[in-house]
Amino acid sequence: MPSYILDWNYKDSVCSFLQTIFPQVIMWRFLRLVSTLGLCVSAFSQSSTVDSYTSTESPIAKAGVLANIGPSGAKSSGAYPGVVIASPSTTNPDYLYTWVRDSSLVYKMLIDQYTSGQDTTLRAHIDNFIAAEANIQQVTNPSGTVSTGGLGEPKFNINETAFTGAWGRPQRDGPALRSTAMITYATWLIANNNETYVTDSLWPIIKLDLDYIMNNWNETTFDLWEEVDSSSFFTSAVQHRALRQGSALATAIGQSSVTSGYNTQANNILCFLQSFWNPSPGLMTANTGGGRSGRDANTVLTSIHVFDVEAGCDGVTFQPCSDIALSNLKVYVDSFREIYDINTGIRADQAVATGRYPEDVYQGGNPWYLASFAVAEQLYDALIVWSNEGSLTVTDVSFPFFQQFDTSITPGTYSSSTLTYSTLTTAIKNFTDGFVAMAAKYTPSDGGLAEQYTRSDGTPTSALDLTWSYASALTAFNARAGKTSASWGAAGLPISPACSTSKALTVPVVFNVNATTVLGQNIYLTGSVGALTDWSTTNAILMSSADYPIWSTAVTLPANTQIQYKYIIVDSGNVTWESDPNNEFTTPMSGITTLNDEWR
Ligand code: NOJ
Ligand code: NOJ
Repeated sequence: MPSYILDWNYKDSVCSFLQTIFPQVIMWRFLRLVSTLGLCVSAFSQSSTVDSYTSTESPIAKAGVLANIGPSGAKSSGAYPGVVIASPSTTNPDYLYTWVRDSSLVYKMLIDQYTSGQDTTLRAHIDNFIAAEANIQQVTNPSGTVSTGGLGEPKFNINETAFTGAWGRPQRDGPALRSTAMITYATWLIANNNETYVTDSLWPIIKLDLDYIMNNWNETTFDLWEEVDSSSFFTSAVQHRALRQGSALATAIGQSSVTSGYNTQANNILCFLQSFWNPSPGLMTANTGGGRSGRDANTVLTSIHVFDVEAGCDGVTFQPCSDIALSNLKVYVDSFREIYDINTGIRADQAVATGRYPEDVYQGGNPWYLASFAVAEQLYDALIVWSNEGSLTVTDVSFPFFQQFDTSITPGTYSSSTLTYSTLTTAIKNFTDGFVAMAAKYTPSDGGLAEQYTRSDGTPTSALDLTWSYASALTAFNARAGKTSASWGAAGLPISPACSTSKALTVPVVFNVNATTVLGQNIYLTGSVGALTDWSTTNAILMSSADYPIWSTAVTLPANTQIQYKYIIVDSGNVTWESDPNNEFTTPMSGITTLNDEWR
C-alpha cells in the first residue's frame, strides 16, 4: 500500500474516532485545543498527503495515458498510430473507441508537456496524433462528410473508420479542442523555426476545424456529456478560444484572409457566453436545454480549459479566479454535499467528492475523478494568478466563496502583504488540496484511475484506466506545482455594449444561527427562492459549524426581494424544522446583509 494511503487513513481514523466518542460541543472545544497545540490540525492540512500522492501518481498517470495510445500502447492493441482510446474497457461501458474530445484534451496536455520542455520525448507521438486526426477528419460518418458536418462526429472506431451506431451527435466541441491542441503545437513550431511545416502541413488541418466552428457554432449541439441537445457553455467557450487562437496563428503565417471571419464570430460567441450567467444563486448554467439545475462540471472544466495566465481574474472569459467562476465553483461543489454517502459528515468548508452534475444517473451517477481534479485545478490556477498579481479581490459576487474561509471577510482588494491575504490563500490552498486528497483516498493501490468512484463507498467503477482521468490528474498536478500553459490571447477582450445583458441585481446575505446540536446533526438553510433551494429539504444548504455554536453560510440572493426562510436540523436523513412562522426579510438593493438568528 503506498504510504499516502496509510497516512491518510491513519489521520482520518484518529479524527473520526474522536468525533464518535465526544458530543459535538465537547469535540469542538477539544479541536480548538489540539489545533493550538498543532496536533490534530494535520488532519485538516492535506499538504503532505497530497505531496506524496502527486509524486507517486504522476508517473502512473503518464504511463496510463501512453498505454492508451496506438500503435504500441500496452492497453490499446489495435489502435492506429496516434489514436487515443477512451479506455480499454470493452463492456459496461464499452469505451474501446476514440472520441475527438477525449483525444484532444489528452493531446493538449502532452503537447504542453512537450513544448514546455517537461517531456522532450513526445515528438513522434504528437506527429502521430496529427496524422491520425487528419485522416479522421476525412472519414464520412453519420454526421456528414468533411464538408457537410462530419467534423462534429463525436467518436470513431480505433482503426479510424466511422462508428455508425446511434449516438448523441453532433458534438461540436471536438473541432475546437482539436484545433486548440494543434495550434498550441504550431505556435511552438513557429517559434522554433519550423514555419514551413506549419503553413504547408498543419494549417490545412487546423483550418478545416476553424471554418467548421465559424460556420456552425450557433447550431445546437450535444453537450460534452453526450446527453443534452441545446447550447452548452463548455462547447461555446472552447469554440471561442479556438477561433481567437486560430486568428492569431493565421496572422502569424500570413493567412490573413480568414481573420476577419474568425474574429467576427469569436466576438459573437463571447457575447453569447455572457448570457449563461445566472446571478442568483451565482452560477453559469451549463446548458440552455436539459431541464436540470445547471450545476455541472461542464463549467469548471470550461474555466480550466480557457485559463490564460496573462488574463488575470477576468470574468468576461471566465478565468479561474474571476468572481463569477469562484461563485460558480462553490455552487457546483455544494450541490454534491448532500447526495453522496461518502460526503456525509464532511464540514461545509471542506472538500467533497464531486461528479458531472447532481442529477446524474449514468453508471450509478457517481463522483468522477476528472471532476475532483478539475475543481482542484481551477483553484490552483487561481492561486497562481493571485500570487502573480500580488493581491486578491473579494467582490459581492465572490463573497460567498471567500466567506467559507473567513467568516468576517468583507469585499475589497487584499494585497499579498496583508494578513487577510495569507489567511485566505492558506485556507484556500488547503481546501484545494482536499479535492486531490479526495481522489487520492479513492485511488486503488496500483494507482489506476477509472472514470468514477462509487457514491456509497468510493470503490472505483465504470470504465477502468480512463485516459481522460489520467490526463486530468497530470494537469492538476502541474497547476499545483505552479506550471501554466502558453497564453492564448484572453487578456482584455472587450464585449460589445450591446451584449452586456441587463443583469439582475443580487446581494450577498450571511445567515448566522445560534444552535446547539449533538454529533451527527447538521444545520441547513432552506427558503422561498431558488437560491435557497425553494424549500427543499434534500438540497438545502449545509451550513458551516466552524464557529460553533454559530452555524453560518453566505448566499447570493436577488436584490430588493421579500424572502422567507427556515433553518432545519438534519440527523441521518430526519428533518426537524424550526417552529412557525417562517423567518422573513426583504433584501436591500446593495451591500452585505448579516442575519443573526436564534434557533427556535
Ligand atoms: C462519457 C463522457 O460523458 C464523455 O464526455 C466522454 O467523451 C466519453 N464517456 C468517453 O470517455
Ligand atoms: C414545510 C414545513 O413543514 C414548514 O415548517 C415550512 O415553514 C414550510 N414547508 C415552508 O413554508
